[in-house]
This record gives sequence, C-alpha cells and structure tokens, in this order.
Amino acid sequence: MKALVVYDSQHGNTEAIARAIAGAAPRGAARAIRVGNVNAADLKSVDTLAVGSPTLGGRPTPAIQRFLDGIPAGSLAQVRVAAFDTRMSMFIAKLFGWAADRISTGLKAKGGLPAAKPEGFIVKGRDGPLADGERERAAVWAKGFLG
Ligand SMILES: Cc1cc2nc3c(=O)[nH]c(=O)nc-3n(C[C@H](O)[C@H](O)[C@H](O)COP(=O)(O)O)c2cc1C
Repeated sequence: MKALVVYDSQHGNTEAIARAIAGAAPRGAARAIRVGNVNAADLKSVDTLAVGSPTLGGRPTPAIQRFLDGIPAGSLAQVRVAAFDTRMSMFIAKLFGWAADRISTGLKAKGGLPAAKPEGFIVKGRDGPLADGERERAAVWAKGFLG
C-alpha cells in the first residue's frame, strides 16, 4: 500500500489530524503533505488518497479546491479516496455544509473510489484547539481504510 494524505491548514488543527491519519498506516506506508508542496509525481503510484481541509464558510480552502480541480480527469480510477475536514460543533455551522463533503464530491468526480465516509473533526474554538480525543478518533477512522 502507498497512501498520501494531502491537507491544508491555517492554524495547525487540520495538519495535526492529517499527521494522525498518516501515522495510522502500517509500516509508515502513508505520507502527509501540505497541499502547496504536492506535485504530480507525489500522486503517481498512490493507491489511497486522503484529502483534508479546514471548513471555511462550508467549503475547503481555495488551495484544496485548486488541487482537486487540477487532478486530471479519470486519473483516480484505481485510487481509493477519503475526505476529511476540521469544523466547529456550533449548530449554525451545519447550515453552511462541510468541506469534507465537497472534497469527497471532487475526488469522486476524478474517478476516485470512496474508501470511507467523509469525516469531520471538531475544533473547540474558531481557530482551535482540537477537541479532546479527535487525534485518536482520526487514527481509528484512518485504520478503517489504511488497513
Ligand atoms: C473565516 C472562517 C470561516 C469559517 N467557517 C466555518 C464554517 O463554515 N463551518 C465550520 O464548522 N467552521 C468554520 N470555521 C472554523 C474553521 O473550520 C477552523 O478554524 C478550522 O477547523 C481550523 O483548522 P486549521 O487549524 O487547520 O486551520 C471558520 C473559520 C474561519 C476563520
């Protein structure tokens, strides 16, 4: 297995979740890379791709959206995909929707095979920190598709 976790993060919360996800892969088979540092070669020969972003106004960051848009059509046909975000637990946030759902739609549009349901991890305040136990929950979520 070769897995890649692509993430964006302004305050470090999504980065911490991305690292927990990559760390859940057996024998170091997954790498976490910030979206601005990913190039086409990183995506080659990856069999599992997880993409995560902070939820901003119900959406992923512009950098994550550009990354999704830039994946060549059909190139994820053999790739298992999973989407995650960080978000607040306030009821009103639900009205805007979640970044993970939009990321999932973007990955599927490029042919990706969903390997897990889109998942959100909770920050306590607008800029964090992560709620207790979210890193551990991310590792459990990731083990479901990283083996
Ligand atoms: C401008 C702005 C808009 C936000 N919009 C939402 C939102 O629509 N829904 C939500 O749950 N959280 C929202 N948040 C909270 C972010 O999701 C939170 O800051 C993020 O999880 C932090 O992740 P990071 O540390 O990786 O940047 C917003 C935060 C900012 C600054």
